[in-house]
This record gives sequence, C-alpha cells and structure tokens, in this order.
Amino acid sequence: MKEYNIAIDGPSGAGKSTVAKLLAKKLGIMYLDTGALYRTVGLKAKRDGWKEDNALVSDLLSATDIKAEFSGGRQRMYLDGEDVTDAIRLGDVSDYGSRFSALPCVRAALLGLQRRIAAENTSVLDGRDIGTCVLPNAEYKFYLTASVEERARRRYEELRAKGEDVDLDRVKADIAARDKRDMTREISPLRKADDAVEIDSDNMTAEEVAERMISFVKNGRSA
Ligand code: DC
Repeated sequence: MKEYNIAIDGPSGAGKSTVAKLLAKKLGIMYLDTGALYRTVGLKAKRDGWKEDNALVSDLLSATDIKAEFSGGRQRMYLDGEDVTDAIRLGDVSDYGSRFSALPCVRAALLGLQRRIAAENTSVLDGRDIGTCVLPNAEYKFYLTASVEERARRRYEELRAKGEDVDLDRVKADIAARDKRDMTREISPLRKADDAVEIDSDNMTAEEVAERMISFVKNGRSA
C-alpha cells in the first residue's frame, strides 16, 4: 500500500538524483527518475532525426515503446526493447530530452506513466514539474537549487569521471541554455510549487540535503 510520495524539482545539476537516491535508500522507498523518461524520448528523437513538431512526434511516439523497470533499487530504461540505461546519459541526449520535453504530446505520453508508478509505490520522484503538475498533492515537496557555477562544476566532474572530453565553460553554457528552455516552455515549465520547501545546495553535501528532507518527512507534511 502506498504511504506517501516525495516530489523533488529543480534545475539541471542541482543534485536532485543524488539526493533522491539517498532518500530512497534511507527511507526504504522507490525512486523514479523522471528525467530518464524524457532522455529516452530524446535518444529516440536523436537516433531517428525527429523534428520538433507536435503532430509528427505524436504519431512517431505512439509507435515507440518506452518502459521503466525497477530491480535491486535501480531503474533501467528500455527503448523498443533495448536497454538504454547507459546510452541516455551520454553526450547531448539530455539536450534532446529537454527540447522534446517541451512538446505537449511528449508530456502527455509520459504523465500517465509517472502517475501510475507514483500511485502504486511509496516513492520519491525527481524532475521539473513533479510538485506542480505530475503530483500536485504529493505529501512532501522540495525545490532543490544551486548556483549555475556550482551546477556546471558538478556536471563537469560527472562527465569527466565517465571519460568524456568536456570543457567547463561549454558545460556551463549548456546548463544555462537548458535552464532557460526548461523554465520558459509553455507547458509545465520548471518552477517552484507554492507549497514546496526550497533548499539551496551550494554549500551542502548530498547527505546533508537528504537529512534535511528526512527531517520534514519525520515531522509530517512539508507541502
Ligand atoms: O533531469 P534530467 O537532466 O535527466 O532531465 C533531462 C531533461 O528532461 C530536462 O532538461 C528537462 C526534461 N524533464 C522535464 O521536462 N520534466 C521532468 N519531470 C524531468 C525532465
């Protein structure tokens, strides 16, 4: 039986997924990374050269099979039966995810999937519109931020650790562009829900952020 949902929204690189993973582990609940769903659409769009046209993408999407599976506390993503869990983390797939996430048909297609998983599982979901759109009645809502410099530094370290040859200024410019697109799109733009608790993670470790969130969960509703 589902007990509660925790919604964590915020811009790229604020530490949402690291914190959400920690929270899920500490609380013994499920973690749904909703960005992975948009990245999977982005990967398909990139591979097949999709145009950002709602009617066209709507048709192409209905012939595309996107699945999230959970085992051993890990979320794996499948695109038309292929395991793309690692592929969606590479290169500019996130950028494709961001661009195609602005299309109404993409948001509509992924909304039901997210709500279904949340309705069936005590879980933490991270994304851009969880507290405002996907789960407006989530028991706990957080908006996690950090300066663009800090977020770029974190993303840079992450990509370098994966062996990608990246440039810090380029990473920062990409993050700023993605923020702008995610915050200004017409449907479900990234914004803090009125009843979300805002946490600035610039000078906090992921562990500290997770503990701060857990204190809200232990004390009752944050939203
Ligand atoms: O969290 P992420 O970087 O993996 O997300 C990739 C892109 O997907 C992000 O730039 C915007 C989009 N996204 C979204 O629009 N709504 C969500 N709930 C999650 C991600």
